[in-house]
Amino acid sequence: MSRPTRPKTNSAGSRRSGTSNAGPRKTKARSAPLRYQNFELEALKGLEAVAEAELREVPSVRGGGLLQTGGVRFQFAPDPLATGGDWERLSRLRGAVAIYRVETWDIPRPKAFLGHEVLGEVLDYLRSVIRQGGHKSFRLSAAGKDSETFTRLTEEIEAQLGLPHHAEEGELLLRIRPSETEEGWEVLARITPRPLSARPWRECNMSGGLNATIAYAMHKLSGVRERDRIFNPMCGSGTLLIERSLMGPLDALVGVDIGPEAVACSQTNIRAAKRQIEVAQIDALATGLPDRSFDLIVCDLPWGDAVGSHGGNAELYPLFLQEMDRLTARSGRLCILTHELKLFERVMAEQSRWQAKELFQVYSGGHYPKCYLLSK
Ligand SMILES: C[S@@+](CC[C@H](N)C(=O)[O-])C[C@H]1O[C@@H](n2cnc3c(N)ncnc32)[C@H](O)[C@@H]1O
Repeated sequence: MSRPTRPKTNSAGSRRSGTSNAGPRKTKARSAPLRYQNFELEALKGLEAVAEAELREVPSVRGGGLLQTGGVRFQFAPDPLATGGDWERLSRLRGAVAIYRVETWDIPRPKAFLGHEVLGEVLDYLRSVIRQGGHKSFRLSAAGKDSETFTRLTEEIEAQLGLPHHAEEGELLLRIRPSETEEGWEVLARITPRPLSARPWRECNMSGGLNATIAYAMHKLSGVRERDRIFNPMCGSGTLLIERSLMGPLDALVGVDIGPEAVACSQTNIRAAKRQIEVAQIDALATGLPDRSFDLIVCDLPWGDAVGSHGGNAELYPLFLQEMDRLTARSGRLCILTHELKLFERVMAEQSRWQAKELFQVYSGGHYPKCYLLSK
């Protein structure tokens, strides 16, 4: 093979000029040049823009752009003075499903990963990722991952890194594919052992539980305001409550659910998140709370599959809009996520109190629910 085999992008050991260096910083303590590395952000389909906007708030992130694969490619330089690991800031993103380090090798086919020099570089690269993430096992995701080439690559990684291979649950997720941005093949290595969307606070799971990155997006796009009195009717496992409380100051935050298991489940998660949020077992349509108690009501209504029934929803939705109208302030907002799109649109057309703006449609767990922001 005549082509060079060095990684094309900057790895811990070997870097290409042009991608690795942004020049010296001003203060003496930070005078070392920033070392940029390539990363990719994975978001739920439909939430790429929300996740990318959050990424843009991270210092020392540059580049970026949506790939055909749906990922957002960017470069990041760890702050040399940061504590908690080079990529700690990236692992705190709330709108992304996962973040991957990316290295590209100018090789014509995956078999070349098994060559002595390239294999050594790949293993060094994986060691640098494991050093940051503390992964205890790995797995491969690649077209033809059961081929002889990928089987041998798996064996080499297992033997040389002493890292067990778990086809389903492996913590270091390696995605191997032809590069979309340059010649060759790239290895994406998830920087955290679990996806970022799997929140550490989630000790209790419920059927119909909301993906936490969707909860983040609902709050972000509804507006995160210090003075908000916020209500989450039908709180289930507490995802919307906990995510909001982690996003910044607020005036009040209350959740209710009609099911005792849901209330217990949300309380377990709230404790695990070390938050203090009031949750009560009560019918959201009969809380007895005074008129105009809230500035923001945020809710993922039952969709009629995992939770509730289509017949039940036909009754629930109009009553819900009416009661939430009573509970919100005149300038209040109502953020709703639902998969009952026809029902929701019909019910909206039959009332005149609320106007709806579509915020996003997201692909999650085999569904395409839509999120609406309603105002009066
Ligand atoms: C789609 S789940 C909510 C999931 C939740 N966001 C989570 O992350 O786990 C809907 C919830 O609505 C609750 N529910 C249904 N009808 C209700 C009502 N009338 N009042 C209060 N809760 C209700 C169900 O018990 C269920 O927990």
